[in-house]
Amino acid sequence: MTYLYSELANNFVERIEKGIYLPGDRIPGVRQTSMREGVSPATVVSAYRHLELEGYIEPRPRSGFYVRTRFRPELPEPRPTKLPVKPKPVSGQELVVQLIQTINIPGIVLLGANIPDESFMPTREVSRALMAVSKNYRRELARYEVPPGLLELRLEIAKKMASIGTITSPDNVVITSGCQEALYLSLKATTHPGDVIAIESPTYYGLLQIIDSLGLKALEIPSDIHQGISIEALQLALDQWPVKACVVIPNFSNPLGTRMPDERKQALVDLANKYRQLVLIEDDIYGDIFFEGRRPDTLKSRETQNNIIYCASFSKNLAPDLRIGWICSDRFQPRIEYEKFVSNCATSTFNQLVVARLLSRGVHERHLRSMRIAVAQSAKKLSECVTHYFPAETRLTRPSGGLALWLELPKSVDATQLSHAALEHNISIAPGSMFSNTTKYKHCIRLNCAVAWSSRVEAAIEILGELVSAAAPAKHA
Ligand SMILES: Cc1ncc(COP(=O)(O)O)c(C=O)c1O
Repeated sequence: MTYLYSELANNFVERIEKGIYLPGDRIPGVRQTSMREGVSPATVVSAYRHLELEGYIEPRPRSGFYVRTRFRPELPEPRPTKLPVKPKPVSGQELVVQLIQTINIPGIVLLGANIPDESFMPTREVSRALMAVSKNYRRELARYEVPPGLLELRLEIAKKMASIGTITSPDNVVITSGCQEALYLSLKATTHPGDVIAIESPTYYGLLQIIDSLGLKALEIPSDIHQGISIEALQLALDQWPVKACVVIPNFSNPLGTRMPDERKQALVDLANKYRQLVLIEDDIYGDIFFEGRRPDTLKSRETQNNIIYCASFSKNLAPDLRIGWICSDRFQPRIEYEKFVSNCATSTFNQLVVARLLSRGVHERHLRSMRIAVAQSAKKLSECVTHYFPAETRLTRPSGGLALWLELPKSVDATQLSHAALEHNISIAPGSMFSNTTKYKHCIRLNCAVAWSSRVEAAIEILGELVSAAAPAKHA
């Protein structure tokens, strides 16, 4: 489906590319374009925002929109990776501990962990809610809110799920301590040690760690930056191996940032339906952080055979420290509740009350509206900076949501060594090896887009660019 705003934006792109509007030219104002093109002012605003995000135009205060003067050719996108599709136990995740420890280094430029800077989070509103809840918080202190968790919060989550087109009863929601626990419990409830789990490649390192800790085998399926997990490769793998579960991040995956197209989501659900023993586990932790258009759909909304487990949390858009996540499932609900109880009895009631309050008062939804704009702008600046300072052989994703930029560096660069060198300059990055059980991404890195922009961050990107250039001398130098 093409939206009116994107049609209008494309018309402008064509005019800019044909030189009808030259760099530095002012393009017609919103009202003028709205009248001339016969579309609403809101459509024009969306089109202009899209053009701004794509780097074609820039707003100037009280003056209008101008074609950008320093419009540089973009870096190309990363290429698909060929993989030996074979299940393997997970090993070599030690790098992750090193990365996690960089979070608390004072003054570090944190480009490694996918954690939004606090300026992107509604810290004041959360702290107000903490104070309000604490006033009447006494009885709950003396008891456990055993699984499935606080009813008030489950009701709010069911409403939120309905608002994104995924109808779920509050009875089918289990509150967890973050999305990491949600993934852990989902796999624990549906697998036994030695089972084969299909995952995207590259994927979120926390998932690899869960697979390791549960004694499962990872089967990495190639993923495309535009299409997501390869359905064709998954089908071949399902015919060859007894795959128990397939875990995917369909909306703004980590680390590729892929937004899986609707028809691919449907094809994935259809494929899962054909293999009775297969459970699809959907991690939708980034689904709310979309940069334009509407919120992407979930796999869960396409479920017809009770074989999809949905996981998410509020860590990336409210407060990671509250440790509140959830699972929606029907068939596996009793087992998941049991595993939750075995693992830690209950999630803190206090934190559940705080999140329920923030949801019921619309604070979370309001915050999301501004956060999406802020992250989109930050991602754009980061991409521009990388384009400017990194060697021309670099390849770069252009995510339309989420928190990650994925960079493919020249093949001769060892990203783990690069991360050590960067740390000496007080910069943290996530080397590609963390996102796979293979050595395929040794020359790749992931950068966090939600950074508080400053000259220090720009200087950090410049240093990284110099380190990459030094590790990969230009062929024509
Ligand atoms: C894809 C993905 N899933 C799960 C998690 C874990 O989230 P939480 O902090 O809510 O446990 C993360 C955190 O980075 C993530 O990127």
